[in-house]
Amino acid sequence: MKKDRLKIVTIGGGSSYTPELIEGYIKRKDELPIKEIWLVDIEEGKEKLEIVGNLAKRMVENAGLDWEIHLTLDRREALKDADFVSTQFRVGLLDARIKDERIPLSHGLIGQETNGAGGMFKAFRTVPVILDIVKDMKELCPDAWLVNFTNPSGMITEAVLKYGNFEKVVGLCNVPINHIMHESKLIEKNPDDLFFHFAGLNHHHWHKVYDKEGNDLTELVIEKMFNSNEPIVKNIRYIPFFKEQIRDLGMLPCSYHQYYYLQDDMLKKELEEYAKNETRAEKVKKVEAELFELYKDPNLKEKPAQLSQRGGTYYSDAACELISSIYNDKRSTMVVSTRNNGALADLPYDCAVEVSSIITASGPKPINFGKLPTAARGLVQVMKAMEELTIEAAVTGNYGTALQAFILNPLVPGGQIARTVLNEMLVAHKKHLPQFAEAIEKIE
Ligand code: G6P
Repeated sequence: MKKDRLKIVTIGGGSSYTPELIEGYIKRKDELPIKEIWLVDIEEGKEKLEIVGNLAKRMVENAGLDWEIHLTLDRREALKDADFVSTQFRVGLLDARIKDERIPLSHGLIGQETNGAGGMFKAFRTVPVILDIVKDMKELCPDAWLVNFTNPSGMITEAVLKYGNFEKVVGLCNVPINHIMHESKLIEKNPDDLFFHFAGLNHHHWHKVYDKEGNDLTELVIEKMFNSNEPIVKNIRYIPFFKEQIRDLGMLPCSYHQYYYLQDDMLKKELEEYAKNETRAEKVKKVEAELFELYKDPNLKEKPAQLSQRGGTYYSDAACELISSIYNDKRSTMVVSTRNNGALADLPYDCAVEVSSIITASGPKPINFGKLPTAARGLVQVMKAMEELTIEAAVTGNYGTALQAFILNPLVPGGQIARTVLNEMLVAHKKHLPQFAEAIEKIE
């Protein structure tokens, strides 16, 4: 039954992104009758939670709202009777991301914190934690929706569906919405007058664009894309794709495809940054420190503009709009990670895909995309198999499965290097990988 007042919980509440989220709720105050927002973190994140939590309180007060903001390290207390639980935590904090990016680069391969070797390790660290959260949710708030932002967002969503056996989960990412805003501007149209049809996996999707009259504008957007060299998301430097390839594909790639289609160029740039100790993770650590200094200011009562230096722009629009769409049965069209259910004929029926969906009170209903062109099909099937194996290895701690996943990843160029990087990363992240204890002992 629809509740009159909502309890919303955010795990990883001490994140620098929290003001985005609060701003998104405030914007939707007339459609979301919030009673309580609980920001949860762990002991290591206590100080950040206090700082950002106090800013959240000031933002809510400044907006004249009576919402209660609770800051806690007690996840179970927060989850009790929750209606929506959003997750944005990072196991091992930014220092773990630095290792995820730097160790692979030290061997000449892209780390990438979502679908490269770094992302696979992020999955190894995160899957057991999300499954634990789901276990608590089943006991304490079985009817709540889990809105996952934690990366690798698609893999985490699939782990919850397959291994957590929990259906009320939606994976989110801000990349599609960034494409929608950017490309609407390129063709000087209002995004509300266009239909963007996305299909693929998280950070690995393509899309087509249509207008209100039913015209397919994809080709036009592709042409315009080559006249602009603005990055679409702040965290990925822009390198232009090959025109002939994209025209032939007939769909718009996502920014993360640069890592695959232009792997050599991207690696060159990343190695330059690595040499200067300026990997994305290292830069983000600096931006974070600056943000938290700003957040401390008792006179700050709004989200500071500097937050837009992070890759997560429109993050709150995606999360808050999703929550409102479910709560109000808005049936808005959003791009989410959800169970495929045949929407992408080329991928397993029960896996998680990132696809345009109608968001209803009973969750996302994916819009069928049909078959992908051969080039996209080949790549996405390899990526999905890599994801499936990564999740399986994260659950079982099986070294052979982890190696299999590494060798399959198109960003890992060979068997020996796969083994070397896998071993080094297992040891480096040992503290957060209890499931791999036996394998790590053999390596050490
Ligand atoms: C993108 C992605 C997110 C990612 C973020 C990284 O927008 O969609 O999955 O977490 O950027 O941004 P950062 O500022 O942390 O590099």
